Amino acid sequence: MKVLTVGGGGREHAIVEAFHRAGSEIFAVMKNANPGILDRASKYKLVDETKVDEVCAFAKECGVELAFVGPEAPLAAGLVDALEKIGIKCASPTQAAARIESSKTFMRDLVEKYKIPGNVVYKSFDNAADAKAYIRPLGTKFVVKPVGLTGGKGVKVMGEHMKAIEDADKYIDEIFSGNIGGAGVIIEEKLEGEEFTQMVFCDGKKISPMPLVQDHKRAYDGDMGPNTGGMGSYSEADHLLPFITAEERQKSLDIIQAVIDALAKEGCPYKGVLYGQFMLTVDGPKIIEFNARFGDPEAMNVLSILESNFEDVCKQIADGKLKGDVKFANKATVCKYAVPKGYGTSNVDSGREISFDMENLAKSKAILYYANINKVENTLITGSSRTAAMVGVANSTDEAEWNSEVGLSCINCDYIFVRHDIGKASLIRKRVDHMARLRGQ
Ligand code: AMP
Ligand code: GLY
Repeated sequence: MKVLTVGGGGREHAIVEAFHRAGSEIFAVMKNANPGILDRASKYKLVDETKVDEVCAFAKECGVELAFVGPEAPLAAGLVDALEKIGIKCASPTQAAARIESSKTFMRDLVEKYKIPGNVVYKSFDNAADAKAYIRPLGTKFVVKPVGLTGGKGVKVMGEHMKAIEDADKYIDEIFSGNIGGAGVIIEEKLEGEEFTQMVFCDGKKISPMPLVQDHKRAYDGDMGPNTGGMGSYSEADHLLPFITAEERQKSLDIIQAVIDALAKEGCPYKGVLYGQFMLTVDGPKIIEFNARFGDPEAMNVLSILESNFEDVCKQIADGKLKGDVKFANKATVCKYAVPKGYGTSNVDSGREISFDMENLAKSKAILYYANINKVENTLITGSSRTAAMVGVANSTDEAEWNSEVGLSCINCDYIFVRHDIGKASLIRKRVDHMARLRGQ
């Protein structure tokens, strides 16, 4: 089929590779000239992906039959609605269904309305004074979030990113005065536990689960530093994670199915990939957030071991008829991102030349996914977001971690950094011990 892909990051390069393996002909729109996507596309257009009219015009001109949208911004801008209007099938959610991500208040209210388990205590505010009054009695047991989209960087946790109540006041003021996320503030109960990502494919009614993945949001080794879009992630050969039981995982799938049922009842059935981010607490999985798309980096873990034909899966989703379970290899994966120096702060180094030792990379067992890189003539230039990801796939997590590191050693650039602890046995042990401690074991 002629397929339109939207987005130019590492996640989208992984999506494009999955379509390529399925035999699709690829037409791509993206902001940056991602060299991996350029190589696979019959035709591409460099454009802001939220420019719905321009994306639709390109799709029509190329005669695409099926579209898949990578990032959240074009979903929130109504790209799927517009593509469907001109007769192009989509394996991504409409604007109304994507509110599950684009409005944290919509998500929390929906979960509450349908009495779905896993919710937190929360309250939304349209002014700073009321939000500040509300947090006064909460001590350190709260988090502050902008209601709208912030690229995964908007959440501040009391006791971690904010030390004193005055820091929280200041952040609330910043959100309103700077219009961060666009739609006010939500204060949530602070959860304690281990985070995990459960993504599913969904055809509007039925879901098919992907392997569990654990992302690493903090910028530096040892879970230090600011929150980022995600520095890297791992998944295990049994598709679970070492700190979670199969029953606990099933609870998160039940929550996701209940959310899908609720969206259908609300008149906005959900088609596409739904991303559930959970905190595994001593009381079971609790909802941190939902995303209306693949996670980045999590997409690179799961798509690297996808065994089903991705085009078939997407076509079935678009047609509302997912047939059977989507299949993944029983392999462990470790994904580590190289990111520009300063990434996660307001002072990011970008615009630097980067190159890859392709000869040694080809000999390694690492899979390279290009991310926020711009190919200008024959030179690759870093952007201000995550640069490139290396994924190791193997029978064990240790081996997958090693493969990813070998890949990273093939990058030539002095202006990037990596969280080397991701996927290492010592860090995974820390996660398992943390959960055991909370369970009183
Ligand atoms: P989000 O953008 O909602 O995924 O949040 C980013 C990060 O903030 C999450 O990965 C968590 O580490 C943290 N976080 C978000 N909500 C909560 C919560 N209610 N309790 C504790 N940590 C949270
Ligand atoms: N990895 C987190 C996200 O994609 O939002």
